[in-house]
Amino acid sequence: MLHDVEAVVLVGGKGTRLRPLTLSAPKPMLPTAGVPFLAHLLSRIRQAGVRRVVLGTSYLAETFSDHFGDGSAMDMEISYVVENQPLGTGGGIRNVFKYLSADDVLVFNGDVLCGTDLTAVVDTHRRTDADVTLHLVRVQNPRAFGCVPTDDDGRVTAFLEKTEDPPTDQINAGCYVFRRDVIESIPEGRPVSVERETFPDLLASGARVSGHVDNAYWRDMGTPLDLVHGSADLVRGVAPSAALPGPPGESLVLNGATVDRTARVFGGTTVGRGVTIGRGARVEGSMLFDGAVVEDNARLVYAVIGAGARVGEGAVVHDTVIGDRAVVGAGCELRRGMRIWPEVVLPPHGVRFSPDV
Ligand code: GDD
Ligand code: MG
Repeated sequence: MLHDVEAVVLVGGKGTRLRPLTLSAPKPMLPTAGVPFLAHLLSRIRQAGVRRVVLGTSYLAETFSDHFGDGSAMDMEISYVVENQPLGTGGGIRNVFKYLSADDVLVFNGDVLCGTDLTAVVDTHRRTDADVTLHLVRVQNPRAFGCVPTDDDGRVTAFLEKTEDPPTDQINAGCYVFRRDVIESIPEGRPVSVERETFPDLLASGARVSGHVDNAYWRDMGTPLDLVHGSADLVRGVAPSAALPGPPGESLVLNGATVDRTARVFGGTTVGRGVTIGRGARVEGSMLFDGAVVEDNARLVYAVIGAGARVGEGAVVHDTVIGDRAVVGAGCELRRGMRIWPEVVLPPHGVRFSPDV
């Protein structure tokens, strides 16, 4: 148990790849399997024995404290530090330094859904007497992440953020252990990228940077498709969380929702509060935010339906984000990464987008 470790969670990003969902809520606050995404991450941190957490906020900063308060509801002590101008990942870590007192600090990107054993990551850090330890995973598309090769001793040899030609499929999983004095050495009062500046500088100066590689569940929730798949994995219990409001299963139906008994709702779908799903509808692996309406015979696959939005009779929404209170007219067909902005009204049969057209 990590009673002597504190945590920092970086939640200051604008979540641009998740627009329009992130126009009204920062990415870590998006409702995911019944609670804000960040609640799942915090529950993992608490389960590992860490009580004190500092959130480095910037974009829509007050939404975090409004929801989590002092953290006592989760048996945690949560503090908030606001960056008036975003300071980047490294600047965000430096900016919370004075709130930290533990020798070892776990730092998290606030948008990663992960099942790693945090105690094992800290063990690697201590066993190798490292300045910084990085949690690393293997992925299919390393170009989208920070590529991090290691040598036979598990020592990090380079840090290549979003490089075209990554030498390995091993990437930065967005969870670090920092020795507290290493945080103090990050320059203060200006934007710093931990990925593009701090890690390369530490390596160049000969610091001991360790890699902790494992095969745990891992997903960055930064795109709509990752968000919807990650949410489905939480609902089905594929991704671990102590914050899931109900037992794992094919769907999570929150209070006040009405699902017609002829509708099929499966694949890890979340049905938000007050949602209505009509006759013969088929909803697979989707996120339905509070108050959304799915009319008869509509078909949803990996769809995100914003709060109060409406999907008309027989409409098809596949791998598409519908903004809050938007209306998809009857018979519309939306596919392949479309995004409908909040309040937009698509007339019946008004849009037909399919890979074959
Ligand atoms: N406080 C603060 N200030 N937080 C920030 C800022 C800032 O200026 N900018 C970004 N963040 C937070 C975001 O809210 C997010 O939780 C985290 O830092 C990472 O930012 P992303 O924008 O999601 O980065 P990414 O996904 O492209 O890449 C990062 O994560 C990958 C793993 O998911 C990098 O760390 C990669 O190296 C890594 O592989
Ligand atoms: Mg990310």
